[in-house]
Amino acid sequence: MTENPALRRLGGYPLARLQELANRLRAEGVPLADFAIGDPDEPTPEPIRRALVDAVGPVSRYPTAVGQRALREAVAGWLARRHGVEVDPEIHVLPSAGSKEAIFHLPLAVLDPHGPRRHVLWGEPGYPVYGRGALFAGGESDPVALGVESGWRPELDALPADRLRRACIAWVNYPHNPTGATADLDWYRRQLDVAREHDLLLASDECYQEIWFDEPAPSVLEAAGDDLTGVLAFVSLSKRSGMTGYRSGAIVGDPELIARLRALRPNVGTASPDFVQAAAVAAWSDQGHVDERRAIFAEKRRVVLDFLETAGIEVSGSQATFYVWFRAPGGDDATYAEALLDERIVATPGRAFGPAGQGWLRLALVPTVEGCHDAVARWGAALQAGRLPT
Ligand SMILES: Cc1ncc(COP(=O)(O)O)c(C=O)c1O
Repeated sequence: MTENPALRRLGGYPLARLQELANRLRAEGVPLADFAIGDPDEPTPEPIRRALVDAVGPVSRYPTAVGQRALREAVAGWLARRHGVEVDPEIHVLPSAGSKEAIFHLPLAVLDPHGPRRHVLWGEPGYPVYGRGALFAGGESDPVALGVESGWRPELDALPADRLRRACIAWVNYPHNPTGATADLDWYRRQLDVAREHDLLLASDECYQEIWFDEPAPSVLEAAGDDLTGVLAFVSLSKRSGMTGYRSGAIVGDPELIARLRALRPNVGTASPDFVQAAAVAAWSDQGHVDERRAIFAEKRRVVLDFLETAGIEVSGSQATFYVWFRAPGGDDATYAEALLDERIVATPGRAFGPAGQGWLRLALVPTVEGCHDAVARWGAALQAGRLPT
């Protein structure tokens, strides 16, 4: 049987041994302070769950890829309130089943596997799906190494012109996974200018948009203003509303690209069930629960940041998202993660997000506030006892 060569290019998880160890401890029921997986425990707000249950009718029908008009209107309403951006729900908004599938499928509508612009740019360390979508669409993944000096943000202008000319999509993701770095409107404007100059689609993964602490994270759509040509924003309810399991998000932007995706996506089968769309309408229409979730993450973040500061461990990025990004004491992220695991604390070594993440680790603020307090107390005791590299 033939095989798509892209499957072989996925590569294994670079830290299989560590993951195996953590999984074994989890299976044995060893109580772990688990900061590894970006899927917090906070419950989905009750009105959202109720909206879903109320929408389950006696007859089941196929949902459509364009989604319910009410959902597209709810997304447009949220964009107007939260970002001051006016979009037309008919031509600028398309629902997705969370942002992951939408990110993965985007190149199918943009990338010509036989043309000269088969590359997809994305920042590394980063979410691997940008590159994987490129590979499966017959293109090439072209990661741009990010670093502490540039605030974990790329400058498209600093890339060699041939790298921009052979690309069809440039992905950006702020607030950023895994570093928690943020970007301001001027930065978005600069990237947009370069992207337009090179006829490159600027695709902005904004799934952590609502997890900010100092000031609200802007959207690429604000920077684009009235002209959405060559711009798409990918938004999601997963992190905003604690709805990772519901699978609901949206793609917003350039009407010509939205029209293409409207043609493509019915072939893929990506529509969320109608009862999920009903829950999504409830979620996008309410901001109170988002503020409450943000306050919980802020409290956990304070506990962890205060501890790292006291312990003299360097933190970078970490301005937004529910991730905290710190430099590995001793220099090796995998070694430090293993040492932390001995203390029953699970963190993700930065190399899991690509080679440019080496030497750093990510903490996802998943445990409760109390769990965070317990974990840092244990971490501090291990440091005192000299059991961890410094
Ligand atoms: C950067 C980034 N983008 C997209 C996603 C996918 O989110 P979802 O498909 O739940 O909207 C994630 C999930 O963790 C992520 O970290």
